[in-house]
Amino acid sequence: MLVPYRCWADVDLAALRENLAWLRHRVGAGVRILTVVKADAYGHGLKPIAALLMQSGTDVFGVANLGEAQTIRAVGAGWPILMLGACLPQEVSLAVRDQVMPTLSSLEEAQQFSSAALRQKVVVRAHLKVDTGMGRLGVGVTEAEELAVRLHALPGLQLEGLFTHYAAAEDDPEFTAAQAAQFSRLVERLHARGVRLPTIHANNSAALLHAPSTLFNLVRPGLLVYGVSPPGPRRPAAAWPDHLKPALSWHCRVSLVKRVARGTSLSYGRSFVAPRAMRVATLTAGYGDGYARAGSNRAWVLIGGRRCRIVGRITMDQMLADVTRVPAVKPGDPVVLIGRQGEDQITAADLAAWGDTVPWEVLTNISYRVPRIYRGAQAA
Ligand SMILES: Cc1ncc(COP(=O)(O)O)c(C=O)c1O
Repeated sequence: MLVPYRCWADVDLAALRENLAWLRHRVGAGVRILTVVKADAYGHGLKPIAALLMQSGTDVFGVANLGEAQTIRAVGAGWPILMLGACLPQEVSLAVRDQVMPTLSSLEEAQQFSSAALRQKVVVRAHLKVDTGMGRLGVGVTEAEELAVRLHALPGLQLEGLFTHYAAAEDDPEFTAAQAAQFSRLVERLHARGVRLPTIHANNSAALLHAPSTLFNLVRPGLLVYGVSPPGPRRPAAAWPDHLKPALSWHCRVSLVKRVARGTSLSYGRSFVAPRAMRVATLTAGYGDGYARAGSNRAWVLIGGRRCRIVGRITMDQMLADVTRVPAVKPGDPVVLIGRQGEDQITAADLAAWGDTVPWEVLTNISYRVPRIYRGAQAA
């Protein structure tokens, strides 16, 4: 007999496919799409998501390490893969062997790749990253022109792309515009010197929503592919998010319902004391499943179509919800942590706000213990 799920995530592959189709429609035919699938495809499961994105026509994959690249290669051959982080010196030969395009920020890195390419008798396609204000990777704007010219001349290396990354596209329009302007001027200067780079890119999800004039010829959405909008005070330039559907919903169950008297304290640390007689449901999820403990006494879940507050500290495998207003609730009932139930919806952004974090972290924190159930299309 199958063990029933206590805490699981449904992944709607049809939603993912439609999200990618919508993004493609928005960016237009001349712009290619690099789908960012790092951290197990933002917690959705890399293998089935890579298969789905291949079938749906992604142009390039963006990864954080070579293991992710190998997983993608095992799903299907031939797709360009860009390593978004810097390669370690120890990883250079492997990256060349697996034809993973490196992100370069310096001459030293480029020389290592050039030597490895010559040793392996192949040509390495690489992207040069320019730091216009993120401060994490990339060569400074003033040195970028000379470096690009030098990399162009290195044997075994083909400079395939030039890119930058926005630091605050979701909340700082001036800074984002300044980053875009610096990057555009650099591209023009390189063109004027005859350095032609086939692929130029800058936009992540927030920039796609808020800075749609800087698409260049490739965009790098992560969050939007999964149907989740980046949070932030800026109103999107276009009503894109309305057309995107969150691919992931997260569920657990009620395991026990009990009455508690006024004045009863609940869970570790006694951070919640019942202000009145209440009905409290014990739920089959906790921080061991990746549900942020910071949501203790702040987060909400959906039970019986109603929004119910988490009361007391969230523990490793269980947490408690106030179900006083949901009289019919009983053990075994489904609980929505992220997703829709009845008329109501809880988003990854809601959960992020209650847990003092961001939706990227909410999704990538959903732990290995939570089975991902794929619906809506053939999974790998
Ligand atoms: C370099 C780079 N580009 C694009 C993305 C995708 O970002 P988002 O999920 O905000 O679209 C990331 C994600 O962290 C990234 O590191």
